[in-house]
Amino acid sequence: MMEKIEEIGDVEERYEVLHQVGDGGQADLHLGRERATNRKVALKIQKPWGHESMMYFTEIGKALEKEGSRTRLLAGIPQVPDLIATGHYRNRRCLVLEFVEGRLLHDVLTSARPVRDTSTVASVIGQLCEILHAVHRKRLVHCDLKPENVMVEPNGRIRLLDMGFAIRMRTPTEWSRGTIGYMPPEQFDRNPFGLTREADIFALGCMLLEMTVMRLPYAGSEGRPALGCSVPVLPPDRLAALPVEFAPLALHMVERKAAHRPAHVREVFAALRPYVPAPGSRRPLKPLRPDPTEHYRTHPPTL
Ligand SMILES: Nc1ncnc2c1ncn2[C@@H]1O[C@H](COP(=O)(O)OP(=O)(O)O)[C@@H](O)[C@H]1O
Ligand SMILES: [Mg+2]
Repeated sequence: MMEKIEEIGDVEERYEVLHQVGDGGQADLHLGRERATNRKVALKIQKPWGHESMMYFTEIGKALEKEGSRTRLLAGIPQVPDLIATGHYRNRRCLVLEFVEGRLLHDVLTSARPVRDTSTVASVIGQLCEILHAVHRKRLVHCDLKPENVMVEPNGRIRLLDMGFAIRMRTPTEWSRGTIGYMPPEQFDRNPFGLTREADIFALGCMLLEMTVMRLPYAGSEGRPALGCSVPVLPPDRLAALPVEFAPLALHMVERKAAHRPAHVREVFAALRPYVPAPGSRRPLKPLRPDPTEHYRTHPPTL
């Protein structure tokens, strides 16, 4: 059952809208300040009306509302920012979310790739397995896992953002959803069988390859990846560069057919476990900033 979300009307009555902190497809992310308490919030505000028809503009607003409902379904998963309220900013739909401090994984990786330190790789992918485990238990598939939708907090904890494409497992889909490059073939078009955990596992495998060999599989899927199409998973030099510790796992995760991938993030985590840093262990020589290994050096894994 979907819980009722607090609809507050004009967000400016309760929140001061401050500078932009993020840019998305159909929304801008602003820092907000709750007037009564000074608490920081993130305001996901529909982009202003541009060239699209009024009808389409209204549809985008409704999609943001639905995203709010799905975010609320994930309440209780600490690594997913809480939805605080929904409302309007001027004539645009707006979600009020918990503000996440830290850096976008995308920015962290841009300055550090390729990441070959096994404890760092296992700490990023391992934490995402723990989060996806909780998401999948709620019978949702995220469908847009990528470094732009992941943040690393100053203490190394990973947070998962953006429920814009999330959908209930095995619910027929009407159109393609996700980001080209990270999408498995079953996400590319309408899918009468709906999506399963294996779709997120594919995207997670893409992130594993991106971190370690700086390539997305199947040449970033330019063109639509028909099942059985001939583009190799990686060019030979990139394949050779794949760290032996992760090669079998990564290639298993990005199999074109969902049934050939690991069926559960537990299975992925099990393969990473030998490289997950133990509590109290030493930090890597060249840590990312913030350093995701710090999380496991202070918190034992839950999977
Ligand atoms: N709760 C949050 N706290 C801080 N920054 C956020 C938060 N949510 C999103 N952002 C920032 O805004 C960007 C776009 O947000 P996102 O929800 O991914 O929008 P879109 O659905 O349009 O991709 C993110 O990449 C991130 O930089
Ligand atoms: Mg996004």
